[in-house]
Formats: sequence, structure tokens, C-alpha cells
Amino acid sequence: MYPYLKGKNILLGVTSGIAIYKAVDLISKMRQIECNPKVIMTKNAQRWISDQIFSAVGNCEVYYETFDVKTGWIPHTELSRWAELFIVAPATANIIAKISHGIADDLLSCTALAYSKTSKIIVPTMNVRMYENPINKKNLEVLKQNGWSIIEPEEGHLADGEIGKGRYPDNSEILEYSEYLLSKKDFMNKKVLVTAGPTVERIDPVRFLSNRSSGRMGYELAREFANRGADVTLISGPTDLKPPSIVKKIIRIESAKELREKVLEHFEDSDIIVMTAAVSDVRIKNYSEQKLKKDTIVNLEIEKNPDIIKELGRKKRDGQILVGFAAETENLKENAIKKLKEKKIDMIVLNDVSREDIGFEKEENEVTIFTSKEELRLEKNHKRIIANNICDFIFSTFF
Ligand code: PMT
Repeated sequence: MYPYLKGKNILLGVTSGIAIYKAVDLISKMRQIECNPKVIMTKNAQRWISDQIFSAVGNCEVYYETFDVKTGWIPHTELSRWAELFIVAPATANIIAKISHGIADDLLSCTALAYSKTSKIIVPTMNVRMYENPINKKNLEVLKQNGWSIIEPEEGHLADGEIGKGRYPDNSEILEYSEYLLSKKDFMNKKVLVTAGPTVERIDPVRFLSNRSSGRMGYELAREFANRGADVTLISGPTDLKPPSIVKKIIRIESAKELREKVLEHFEDSDIIVMTAAVSDVRIKNYSEQKLKKDTIVNLEIEKNPDIIKELGRKKRDGQILVGFAAETENLKENAIKKLKEKKIDMIVLNDVSREDIGFEKEENEVTIFTSKEELRLEKNHKRIIANNICDFIFSTFF
């Protein structure tokens, strides 16, 4: 699900790195997310993989001739004008050297020279010694200075048996970064604090109190704010999710007490605070260092956790936007509005967590937003789209 890439003209330049087979998966994903791709292959790339594979998997045109008399147009200028995003993946040290020096001796390097937009990505993929070579490093620096975004290769096993930096990254990272480049930047210069996932209150070394929050809703919000230019800090409870690669500041917490500490550390400095985390209202009074026996566990004593958002509502300064989430199973609207008022929150997002098809864990959600003046229902959709709509609402209401 990459809403910002849907329908976009994306030009994929493919060179002869051994990871070329991963670019086939990239073109397949581009087709699945309904963007509009075209491919340029270098002559050497065609020695590894047939152009027909890219054409069939991507359902798209594949180019390699600089002088294409059949089309009656000049491929490198036309393609560079047509593309809204230009990705070179995998990019060999050779194409990096050529583009960084303005050499234009084949269709891919000619097109790179003619491409004047800032939405351009290079994915260097090669042997670690080639990658670390100061000449290659310098060439990558030149590309950066000329507006290219470099997606760093990963460390690990390389094709020739060596171990080091040079592996092709996950395609999701390339697509996530592509979204960042193509999305509007209406939250530029805003500092946003997002909490996500469950809290865990330990009972003894083997047991804990927690809830079903997967972190999805909060992670999608963090991604959306970051895509739109915000400086995002994500505070996350335990979850199996991989954080969005575009979000650089991630703080892991376990209990509500730790969450409170970290939230208060970043609160002053934040323009928008979004409390998506499902915070445990109670904790165990006395943590047991030893595993509790059957007879003692029935006598567990619990105590209240601090109400973090209520504390933030009291401390909030003018201009700070505090967004809460309400997880309800009954009297939905009434309970959400009560929380909005009592905790002095600027906006609350109501979730019906009694439903099995939305809310906790699920990829989709359906919510209603309340402020003191407005009510807006967001119909069932992927949490990424819900996050996008929530951000739109925040921007149009408070800025
Ligand atoms: O993570 P997912 O699987 O994607 O699920 C998403 C979600 C359903 C967890 C999420 O959308 C959601 O509803 N999060 C809020 C859960 C919750 O704690 O709701 P609440 O009604 O108990 O709390 C209201 C607000 O107070 C929340 O913003 C909460 O973060 C905050 N709170 C709650 C208790 C507490 N002690 N301190 C708090 O700050």
C-alpha cells in the first residue's frame, strides 16, 4: 500500500549488478501498487536478464537504445521529461561514476544527465571493496550534492562469498523513500511526537499485563507525518512491526511508567503530540523477582498507572496540538467526548475496538474524529489511508 506512488510515472534504470533479479521484484511491486513504470536497461544488464522479463512482469516499455529511429522521438529527453521519479537500482560503481561526472554515453546515463527534477534515487549495489573504494565514495558524495538520494546498501553476504556492505536493500525501503520524495511537505518544520503499540506491565519473570495493540495505527501515523516533512519521534511499546525506515528517531519502552518518562522528555519540544499507544490503566503493585506460584498469583495487587495524556492536557502550552485516541466498546461517542473534555485534548480519534474487522491488530480501521467543534467519520480503510486522512484533518483544522 503506497498511496503516494499510485498512478505516478516512474522510470527505473537497471544496471548489471548481480542483484538485478531483485529489480524484477521491484518492477513487479510497482505494477501491483498501480504506478506507471518504464525501464531503461544498460547493455550489460541485458547480459544478466532479458528485457522481456521486465516488460512482462512490469507490463511496461523497456528501453536501451539511445538512437531509437522507430519511435521518432529522442528517448533520453522524452523519458526524463515524462518521469516523475527516477530510480537507478541496482546501480553499479560504473553508472555512479558516469552520472557523477556527467558522462552520457548510453541511454541510462544520457537520461540521468537530462533529468532535472529532485525526485531521483540511486541504489548502489556492489562488492564491499568496490563500494568502500574512496573513488566510489567520492562519486556518491557528488551525486548527493547534485540532489540524488542514496539508499545505502546493506551489510551481509555478498555474491562472491565475501561479507560486507554492498547488498541490495529491501525493495520496501526503496518504495518508502520514493513515497517520501513524492509526498507534499505540509508538516515541514513541525516536530511531532507519536506513541504507538501496547504497554507491558510485568508481574513476574514470565507473566505480564498487556493488550492487543499491534502498533500499526501509530506506525502509520509516524510514517505519514515523516513523509509530509515533519521531524518525527516515535515512542513504541513492544511490537513485531518493522518501524518505517523514513522515521529516524525511535524510542522503545515497555511499561506505562517508561512511556510517561519518555513522553515528558520530548513533550516541551513537540508541536503535535499524538497518543496512539494503548496504555495500561493499571500495573502490578509488587513485581516478583521469582515466578509466582498458583496460590500467590490469585492475590495480586494492582494499582493505577498515571494518566499520561491528562497530565499533558494540563501542561500544554498555546499552539501545541494534543491528539488522543479512544478505544471503546460501548457508548462510543459519549465516552470519546468525555475523554476529549476531561483530559483537555484538542482532538480525539474514536475506535470501536469491539469489532473484529478493524481496530486492534487489523490492517484496516474505521474511526470518528471529534474536536470541540467538529465531528468527522472516516470510513473503513487501510490504516495508511486513515493516517493520511487524520493528518489532513489536523492540518486543515489547526494550521
Ligand atoms: O496498534 P493497533 O493494533 O493498530 O491498534 C490501534 C489502537 C486501536 C490501539 C489505536 O487506534 C487506539 O485506539 N489507541 C488508544 C488506546 C487507548 O489506550 O485508549 P483509551 O481510551 O484507554 O485511552 C485514551 C487516550 O489516553 C489514549 O490516547 C491513550 O494513549 C491515553 N492514555 C490512556 C491511559 C493512560 N494511563 N494514559 C494515557 O495517556
